[in-house]
Amino acid sequence: MLPFRLMTDPAQWRCAAADVRPGHTAKFRLECGGKRVHGFVVNHEGAFHAYVNRCPHVGTPLDLWENEFLSEDARTIVCATHGAVFEPATGRCIAGPCAGDALGTLPLRHEGEHVVVECPQA
Ligand code: FES
Repeated sequence: MLPFRLMTDPAQWRCAAADVRPGHTAKFRLECGGKRVHGFVVNHEGAFHAYVNRCPHVGTPLDLWENEFLSEDARTIVCATHGAVFEPATGRCIAGPCAGDALGTLPLRHEGEHVVVECPQA
C-alpha cells in the first residue's frame, strides 16, 4: 500500500521518510499552477529524489504497474513502455531510446522526519 498523507496544500506532498525504505518508491500528485503533475520519490541508498512520472522518450508514465519504477535489484529506474534505464540519483537516462536525456526533477527537502516535495519554481 502506498503511503497516504493528508495534504492541505495541493502544491506540496509529504510523507514520513521511514515509509519509503531504501530501494522503494512512492507516487504522488501535485497541482502546479493549474496543472496536475504526477510524480514519485525514490529512496536510493538512503537518499531521496523526486521525479516527474513521465518518460522523456514519448511521455508515458514510467510505471505500467502501479508504483513499479525500479529494476529487480533496485539499482535503476526502468520505463515499463520501452525499457529506458535511468540513474536513481540523477534521473539521467543511461540506456534505451532516450539515452542522454533525463527525467524531470521536482524540488525535495527534509522537514524533520518527513520528506516534502513541491512544484517546480515557475
Ligand atoms: S516511453 Fe519510456 S522508453 Fe519509450
